[in-house]
Amino acid sequence: LDRFCLGFEPQTQKRFTSTTPAIKVQTESKTTKAAKESRTFQAIQEERREQAERSVLISCPPKFNENKFLDYLSKHGTINKHFFYNTYGAYAVVEFSSRESIASLKESTNIPAVEHEAAVPFKSRLLSLKWPGSQSSNHPMPKFQNQSPPSINEITQLLSEKDSIDEQLQCLAEALQLTEENISLRFLVCSLLQDIAGAYFPECIIRPFGSTVNSFGKLGCDVDMILDLNGIYATSQKKGSGLSLEYQVKRGASERAVTQSILSVIGKCVDQFGPGCVGVQNILQARCPLVRFAHQPSGFQCDLTANNRVAMKSSELLFLYGHLDPRVRHLVFSVRCWARAHSITSSIPGAWITNFSLTVMVVFFLQQRNPPILPTLDRLKELAGPSDKCVIEGNDCTIVSDLSKITLQRNTDTSEKLLQEFFEFYGNFPFNKASINIRKGKEQTKPETTALYIQNPFETTLNVSKNVNATQLERFVALCRESAWLLHQKEILNRSSVSPWGFAALLLPSVTSGAGVKSRRKKKLEPASSRIKNLLDSLKIKGGETVAKKGSA
Ligand code: GTP
Ligand code: MG
Repeated sequence: LDRFCLGFEPQTQKRFTSTTPAIKVQTESKTTKAAKESRTFQAIQEERREQAERSVLISCPPKFNENKFLDYLSKHGTINKHFFYNTYGAYAVVEFSSRESIASLKESTNIPAVEHEAAVPFKSRLLSLKWPGSQSSNHPMPKFQNQSPPSINEITQLLSEKDSIDEQLQCLAEALQLTEENISLRFLVCSLLQDIAGAYFPECIIRPFGSTVNSFGKLGCDVDMILDLNGIYATSQKKGSGLSLEYQVKRGASERAVTQSILSVIGKCVDQFGPGCVGVQNILQARCPLVRFAHQPSGFQCDLTANNRVAMKSSELLFLYGHLDPRVRHLVFSVRCWARAHSITSSIPGAWITNFSLTVMVVFFLQQRNPPILPTLDRLKELAGPSDKCVIEGNDCTIVSDLSKITLQRNTDTSEKLLQEFFEFYGNFPFNKASINIRKGKEQTKPETTALYIQNPFETTLNVSKNVNATQLERFVALCRESAWLLHQKEILNRSSVSPWGFAALLLPSVTSGAGVKSRRKKKLEPASSRIKNLLDSLKIKGGETVAKKGSA
């Protein structure tokens, strides 16, 4: 079993496939894991991308024999890793150790003969396993890896069993975070898409960004992708004579117009040739033009953008912050979960605070601790080496890539304390006049009158939360105050006095944040929370005061 799991984190190793067939497998040396831990963001992404290029996604019939299946595939070469999952049917992700195996496998794979319709004969790496009916006897099914997040009820249950709020916050991050298998599947979907876009631009790379790679991804989150065409611009070496050739190219009115035109063609290809890609929408007039679609075999919602290098750099920045101290991820996951439970964030675009904005708010808060838990973005720039230099469209996006160059100050605050102080900090933040600036790690005077101003880390004249209106900000502030107040109550902090207790109690319906909350929550939770409801009732009278006084002290 372990042979398949090497390279995965301890908690995911345990959950790997149960039966190991007698096939050729490769092992990694013991030093690999340690070496991996000090690798840069780019190196990690590059390795995952390369693994995805050696992988296939196979739809499996309801009954099949895992050993026989792997045995059959291993005729094409050594299998490094594999796992199964279930969306609308069973699927296998199989990673070979060499790309030649994919070519060999494709050679022995047929285009299906369809009877009443016609098929686009596009040979992708999304395959179907045909299993002879006569051999479908009672084989045990393989173990399926879960790809969905736990429900709010399951989370509440899980957290209620913990002994401290710190343990709850850690447990929450572990329960919600992307598993190694899920990340592999995300990279594989990007790689499958790259095969389509590669028909026009063979040098292109489709890279995931956003929460797939920034270390704050939650199971079930969308896959943000960038069509990276930089490889095309690599100039060839000139050879002495002074002569050179140039490609004749079609010109567009602007970078944006060219991006829109490329995306519209790729979008059409995805729609018409992309197996498993459904519901393709070209959203080309957005500030950042994109093609949105669902990839059915993986169950992922995908957003494909192009010419969006700054967003990739933002993902690297968040990844870096997420890896500096475990408390960062514990806090980000808990704040995101809390915000979702109270409809502060939403999957529908609108005047809501986004997960990205919330994460930047957590980073800013952690920069404000005494001593600071996270360094400023300016500091990350100072620490950068010559190879880290990065300017994108005139914006200096340089940050240090080697985490070991960053020395952190000693701050021993517990996650519980940080969560409480986060709520107090934003429950009392002067949003009317100040902006949030993680580059300086200090609040600045707001340059415009939008409700919430969070300076874009790399495009410093932009506000990442321009969409947020005053009502949504007020709801956020009210909920911060309410949660801060709840965390001051002895009953909430005591496992034996209320259920759910601790962080789980903060996920219960609010009494102060108004519309939308009442209808969303099920009555089921209410009996267990009657004690808390009483507390909340009294909050109406004294809660605001308590927090306000504390904050102004
Ligand atoms: P999820 O909600 O889990 O999908 O989080 P996410 O971080 O992936 O957010 P989202 O899918 O909305 O956006 C993907 C990435 O685009 C983010 O991680 C940011 O890097 C970037 N991004 C999103 N919103 C903004 C914004 O308003 N301004 C800027 N500059 N970048 C943004
Ligand atoms: Mg996303």
